[in-house]
Amino acid sequence: MATEQLHGLNSIKEITRTYHIGEIGRSTRLSLSRAKQLKHVINTTLRIIIDHLITTAFKDKDAVRSSVPGLCDQTTQSIEQDIMSCQKVGKQDQQSTVISQTLADLDLNVILDENGRHRVILPGMEEEGPLRVEVVKYWKQRHSLFSRWDEGIRVDEESLFSVTPQEIAEHQALRCCCGRLGDGSGLVVVDAFAGVGGNTIQFASRNFHVISIDIDPKKSKYARRNAEIYGVSERIEFIVGDFLELAPTLKADIVFLSPPWGGPQYIKAEKYDIETMLQPVSGSCLFKLASLIAPNVVFFLPKTCDLNQLAHLSLLSQPSSRYTVEWNYVKGELKALTAYYGDNIAN
Ligand SMILES: C[S@@+](CC[C@H](N)C(=O)[O-])C[C@H]1O[C@@H](n2cnc3c(N)ncnc32)[C@H](O)[C@@H]1O
Repeated sequence: MATEQLHGLNSIKEITRTYHIGEIGRSTRLSLSRAKQLKHVINTTLRIIIDHLITTAFKDKDAVRSSVPGLCDQTTQSIEQDIMSCQKVGKQDQQSTVISQTLADLDLNVILDENGRHRVILPGMEEEGPLRVEVVKYWKQRHSLFSRWDEGIRVDEESLFSVTPQEIAEHQALRCCCGRLGDGSGLVVVDAFAGVGGNTIQFASRNFHVISIDIDPKKSKYARRNAEIYGVSERIEFIVGDFLELAPTLKADIVFLSPPWGGPQYIKAEKYDIETMLQPVSGSCLFKLASLIAPNVVFFLPKTCDLNQLAHLSLLSQPSSRYTVEWNYVKGELKALTAYYGDNIAN
């Protein structure tokens, strides 16, 4: 409770009032836990006062001059300049180290944008313009995303870190053949969040008829081009649209769900909550929509998903479905998990 109150502090007057509480801490009649609590309050308060003084010093030069009598303009300015330039140099050093590590052994065009940030033109992605240096690590893995990358595959910056690696997509498509000797002929699969076609292409390669939906016209255009490179575009219907709106108009044998996980930040969550972190709607909402389209639903999800939530999904279809969860590795590294719901694909 003490911490909550401190968060609300925003004026020196309030800080001072709270600081007086510290004097009570000297009483020998206080329990150990109360004394610890008060010590924490005092420490936090001191931190806030120091933070406040520092913030004032940088935000308002005049406030520093009046609060520190005798400090002349020149001194204030030179202190400010010194500290600012130290911060700048420190930041630049750090950034340069990250950039040189990322770009080591790569012959890439690095430029500075108008905000002083480094950007790179990536071979095969020239159409996308200069991209953030952070995505270079994903671009380095481009051949595991599409083995035929060098034949002219197109992806946008976002897809570099959201496309399903080919090895995983191949496996998922094979598994969905329901034991039909690796062939999906006569089966229709809806790829509800198709992106640039990582899964769509592998389903079509197994002879499924694919309804490939994405809300982003550019990604859908790239998916078509990529499918042409793999020679499977004639088995694919490309639709630019919102899956949530299109769902009631669709019927299929399988729905494949690979919705956005929330950007690369998802990895920071110790446990991934499919009810609050998936986009554009919760996991259970997506699952319900999909199970009205097809008796089999495949969900491609972060590796840290809560397994209880995945079990709960199986109860949402009518009748409740059997399911299997598998963990997907690429070159020995755990990348994601896939949950298969429905009697035909859960075995
Ligand atoms: C994780 S990516 C899918 C990647 C895809 N499996 C692949 O291998 O290329 C998610 C995709 O969902 C699309 N998307 C987001 N909201 C959508 C919606 N409401 N309807 C259809 N697509 C949507 C995004 O444009 C993005 O391409």
